This record gives sequence, C-alpha cells and structure tokens, in this order.
Amino acid sequence: MKVPIVQLGLDEQVIKAAADVLKSGMWADGKNVKALEEEFSKYTGVKHARAVNNGTAALMCALHGAGIKPGDEVLVPSFTFIATANTILECGAMPVFVEVDRATFNMDPADAGRKITGRTRAIMPVHLYGLPADMEALEEVAAKHDLKVIEDACQAHGAAYKGRKAGAIGDVAAFSFYPTKNMVCGGEGGIVTTDDDAIIERVKLYANHGQAQKYIHASIGFNFRMQEVNGVVARASLGALDANNAKRRENAGLYDEALAAIPQVETPTVPAGREHVYHQYTLKVKHRDKLAEHLQKNEVGYGIHYAIPIHEQQSMKDAGFVARLPVTEALAREVISLPVHPLLSDEQVDFVARTIKAFYA
Ligand SMILES: Cc1ncc(COP(=O)(O)O)c(C=O)c1O
Repeated sequence: MKVPIVQLGLDEQVIKAAADVLKSGMWADGKNVKALEEEFSKYTGVKHARAVNNGTAALMCALHGAGIKPGDEVLVPSFTFIATANTILECGAMPVFVEVDRATFNMDPADAGRKITGRTRAIMPVHLYGLPADMEALEEVAAKHDLKVIEDACQAHGAAYKGRKAGAIGDVAAFSFYPTKNMVCGGEGGIVTTDDDAIIERVKLYANHGQAQKYIHASIGFNFRMQEVNGVVARASLGALDANNAKRRENAGLYDEALAAIPQVETPTVPAGREHVYHQYTLKVKHRDKLAEHLQKNEVGYGIHYAIPIHEQQSMKDAGFVARLPVTEALAREVISLPVHPLLSDEQVDFVARTIKAFYA
C-alpha cells in the first residue's frame, strides 16, 4: 500500500474562487488578503495580522516589528528549519543556539536562561512539529531579562498552550502557509500576528517598502505582500483548519496506540495543557536509517526533520558558529516523521504501524 508523506489538493469550489480572482484582474492588494488578516487574527485571538508572501518573510517582519537591531542576540533552538536562524542573521543580529528538551523537542527554558548575555534582546521559540513550546517558563525568563518573545509558529496553526493559541502568546508571531503546512494558500504565503499596535505598524511598513502612503516611504523595507489569489485559498484553508487538525490528532492517536509496545520506538510526548496539531508525527527510534530504508521499500513516505541541526550546517560553520548541543545532536540521529496528514485512511495508518512493527519484530 502506498502511503505518501503529504497529499496536496484543493476543492473544486476553492479552485473556482481562485479562478474568479485571476479573471477579475485584482491580483494585488485585494479584499481577500484583507479578509484573511481579519479572519486569522480573530481565529488566533489577537488584535492584528499582516499576510505576507512566505513564512521566512513573516519571521523577518516579526523580528523587525520586535525592534531587533544589528548586534542584538536572539535565543533560538538549533533543532528547527534554518529560516529561524537565517532571518536573525539577515537582520544583522546573532542567533544564539539553545538546547531543546528531549521529551518535547522544544526549547529548553533552563538552557535559554544560561545563554543570556548583556546583548540578548529576544527569545524565539519554535512550536516544533505543531507542539507549543514551554511558554510559561520561557515567558518567565523573558520577563526577568526584559526580552521580547517572538514565536516561530510556522508549524503550529491552531495549536494551543493553556487555552492561548499559538500566535497569541508572545509579543509577535510568524506563520508559514508553505504547501506541506497545516494551513496552505495554493502557493507560498505566511502571516504575522500580534496584539501590539506599535509592532504591527512596523511590520506593515517593513512588508511594503516602508510606504505609509503611496510613494511616501517612512522607513526601509521590502515587498513581502501576499498575492490576492493566495489570500482566497488561505481563507478556505483557515475554514477547514480545525477539522483537519482534529483528523491529524486522530491519526496521531492511532499511531500512539499501535506503536506503544515497541521498546525501540518512543511516540510523541504532549505535556498537560498543550494542544498538539501534529504538523509532523515524529518518533524517536533506534536504528533510524535502517527503519527509513524499510519504510521506503514498503512505499511508506517519511521525513527526517532535521538530520543536521542548524549549528552543524556548513553555512553556520563558515559564519563562525561553534556550539555543542548534545540533546539536539542526538535527536538529529533518532527522529523520523510518519505520514499524519488529514487525507490518510485508517487502513493506511494501520499499514504504516504494521510496517514499523514488522521491522522491529
Ligand atoms: C519552523 C519553520 N520556520 C520557518 C519556516 C519558513 O517558512 P517558509 O518556508 O514559508 O518561508 C518554516 C517552513 O518551512 C518552518 O518550518
């Protein structure tokens, strides 16, 4: 049985809505992007949202919005997608790599506390795989040292921490609508969320060449604007998000049960009070690379997020970064993500679980 790691597609109704936008000629600065911003801010529970053209742009905007300047230090995990660190460097600031908690894969607040210096200005936790980071403990560190909290929520649409949705916990947050994400836009897209009036003003300016009025430029910026056709698809995807996340959770529950008894496999940990949206369903396993080969042979898709932590990437080594993060480095050798997307059938989940059991038998 073939089980793809992701399965993409759009309803006929959404394709028609996108075609209507294309026929209208209103391709930029349209009403769907505006409506998406209103609907996403309401869904997340924040005052403001600004849609942009990818998650990396959303991170850049969030960093600028939070006032990060050249020479500042920003605490980030190394166990994440490289955009989290690249955007900090692009601001002229320095990523400082923090260890993660082995159980949750998320930033370790105690190590964050140890890495504070006189130059630290922000903490940027990543809600990795769709599980919110330990936000109360991180907020405590931030409050003690007067730091901004910037959420990298690119994998966590709809996730929640003690009743607060990802994107509504820190000072500002960034989401991605890349095609594999829980929420999509028929291309590339992203969004920034915040409750802070001053931050959103800076974000809006930065995303649009610092343009306060047409051809009046108050500050430096870029063109990070979202296209209208992506706005219309993202609105439809937001409408389906809770149902799709529920299906992901259901699939995860089936895996949890089916894989619990295998001693070489550790299923995901979800601490009390956190709502996981399973952007990825990621195991820690023994003999990871051999298991990956076995899955491939049986036509089961899988992902390795991430085989090389950021601090071990050549680009970071060339930039002079030296770090030792033993938990991160061990996880990079142990993790493997299974198909968990909402279009999986129970039979497919069962097949994947049986394939893994057969490997360890
Ligand atoms: C944790 C994380 N941060 C940032 C990004 C960047 O988003 P994008 O690919 O939309 O630029 C991604 C998406 O791949 C991500 O997973």
